[in-house]
Amino acid sequence: MFERLAKKYVSNSFIVSVYLALRRFFSAIHDMSRKGGMAKKAHRAKKPVLYLLEFHVAEHCNMNCNHCFHFSSLVKEKSFPSLEQFKKDIARLGEIFDNIRTIRLMGGEPLLNDELPQFIYETRKVFPKAKINVLSNGLLYKKLDGELLTAFITCNASIHVSLYKPMIHKKDEMARHFTDKGVKHWISNPILRFAKYINVEGTSDPKKVVRQCPASRCTFLSNGHIARCPLPFNIKYFNKRFNHAISMDNELIDIHKLEIDGFALKKRLAQPMESCRYCTKLEWVDWNQIQPTSERSISVTDFCSGKR
Ligand SMILES: C[S@@+](CC[C@H](N)C(=O)[O-])C[C@H]1O[C@@H](n2cnc3c(N)ncnc32)[C@H](O)[C@@H]1O
Ligand code: SF4
Repeated sequence: MFERLAKKYVSNSFIVSVYLALRRFFSAIHDMSRKGGMAKKAHRAKKPVLYLLEFHVAEHCNMNCNHCFHFSSLVKEKSFPSLEQFKKDIARLGEIFDNIRTIRLMGGEPLLNDELPQFIYETRKVFPKAKINVLSNGLLYKKLDGELLTAFITCNASIHVSLYKPMIHKKDEMARHFTDKGVKHWISNPILRFAKYINVEGTSDPKKVVRQCPASRCTFLSNGHIARCPLPFNIKYFNKRFNHAISMDNELIDIHKLEIDGFALKKRLAQPMESCRYCTKLEWVDWNQIQPTSERSISVTDFCSGKR
């Protein structure tokens, strides 16, 4: 419920700050109890629970929203992750964490990847208690059939659709399709505004920025590494498109070479990143689409938030 409220009022930085502070507080209590400090012996566990994990099943997209938080609309070529690498990475996370409450298989647009069923099965194999949500723009909702449908049903996965203008008139049809197929689903209200958040000068105060960050604790996994949020992985698409050289590689944590336990890792992921200086207050603008192949369709100034 808190998450829904925070999403609804995401532009209200006070509510977001309070929500994030409460979540930090309860998460710390929960970790303490799992470590054994406050729990009865029977409830002690040696591994912590991670709140949220995000993973890109496709880097590119077929909706290409201007200002996409993950820069997927700047990705020109088709780009899918390696399933073999994912198997190793998710298995490793299973060694580090007892559970991940919510795992988002997303992108880009996940329904573009024909291997999506395998990604769902691998995720469920390692995390039997996790909520698995596939985040989609819904354009390819009819693909939820056959092998993919079986994977959703077998693994108790849900589809979460962000409802953009081109799909608003299809909302009922989409909902009927998911209901008829017996798939758990959630379709958002129409999304008419999008936020810009980049401060290309890198002059923000990381401590201030994280207090109202909508991606706070969106722990992101890619290619053997995790980070506090998706930005350090996806900044390469911004750099390529706008000819910048912002490096955030120091934020990437190699999960196969960890020298700390899961509790310490969680603490580290909760800290502001040095790279948070490239984020700033959200500036909300009307939602629209861009052409990833058209160089002239967007400039770096348009892309960045004017708010400080
Ligand atoms: C990056 S998208 C990926 C999944 C899928 N393609 C989708 O749009 O749902 C994940 C979520 O981030 C939200 N999002 C992305 N960029 C945003 C922006 N600039 N402002 C507000 N929300 C944004 C989307 O609306 C979506 O709910
Ligand atoms: S649908 Fe929009 S928000 Fe989702 S990944 Fe594609 S461009 Fe980004």
